Amino acid sequence: MKSRLEQIRERALSQIKDCDTAEKLNELRVCILGKKGELTDLLKSMRDVAPEDRPKVGQMVNEARAEIERVLEENKARIEKAVREARLKAEVIDVTLPSGKTEMGHRHPNTIALEEVERIFIGMGYEVVEGPEVEKDYYNFEALNIPADHPAKDEQDTFYVVSGSSEGGNGVYDILLRTQTSGVQVHEMEKGRLPIRMIAPGRVFRSDEVDATHSPCFHQIEGLVIDRRITFADLKGTLAEFARALFGEETKVKFRPHHFPFTEPSAEMDVTCFKCGGKGCRFCKGSGWIEILGCGMVHPHVLEMSGIDPEEYTGFAFGMGLERIALLKYEIDDMRLLYENDIRFLKQF
Ligand code: DAH
Repeated sequence: MKSRLEQIRERALSQIKDCDTAEKLNELRVCILGKKGELTDLLKSMRDVAPEDRPKVGQMVNEARAEIERVLEENKARIEKAVREARLKAEVIDVTLPSGKTEMGHRHPNTIALEEVERIFIGMGYEVVEGPEVEKDYYNFEALNIPADHPAKDEQDTFYVVSGSSEGGNGVYDILLRTQTSGVQVHEMEKGRLPIRMIAPGRVFRSDEVDATHSPCFHQIEGLVIDRRITFADLKGTLAEFARALFGEETKVKFRPHHFPFTEPSAEMDVTCFKCGGKGCRFCKGSGWIEILGCGMVHPHVLEMSGIDPEEYTGFAFGMGLERIALLKYEIDDMRLLYENDIRFLKQF
């Protein structure tokens, strides 16, 4: 009995000292001191001990038990301390390390060009307005003198959100992603506040394939002026002034007759090439001129449809592609670069 007790005691003490987690230590406690533990077992066999030896043996067992309990407590403290130290070490923060770098973004060339255009027109007393990107057929086509069977509609085939016609076939209620910002002209005219002097920048959509000069989503800047006695001279003077502000004082403009359904007469405006000054170079493909926008006098029928009396009021309108301006101004030769958002590219402007 005595030697068994000694055996249990020694094994217990060495196992406890080798133990490295609180869980294992608890398991050991149960195995040794628990109800079915080794030491408890030993106590049960006291009945085999001669009665005169029992007090002595009992005392030995109790001493062993007390010692084991003490060593258990000591080691519990040792393990807890080690765990705490390991955590402190793992969670240490080096306050002298440099902090994470915040990358600065950069304004997109489109944004820079747009702000430049806005600044010029605001300087001439224009208001900057916005219109919806999801538009009714009426605003995108119909009210701009482009009826259902007009060929211009095919050129600007777009993404239809809802498509159909009412019973009887009259009254189209197509809803689409706008193909041009010109519809904003109609929204502004319908407000019934005159005179109007506005530009309307925004996203437009066409079912075009992506290439160096096309994208299914791009930006336009629309312009509209309506007042009494507005003439083509106002249009020319305004747009020539705009071209000089944007491309430089020496810039000259040229108007070529063109056709747009919502203006009459209509024109396209070219500016002298700002690279060669009009002599002809690779940039302007030898012509000395660069096409920049479409424009014209607002068609009387368009005024009428939006509730403006064409006998009393006249106006001019213009529209240009924002990407085209950005590409020209920054001499970028592929439109796709504008949409890739590569910071190495964007940083250059
Ligand atoms: N909306 C035309 C287009 O997308 C551009 C345009 C031309 C707008 C002449 C105008 C304008 O306001 O008068 O091609």
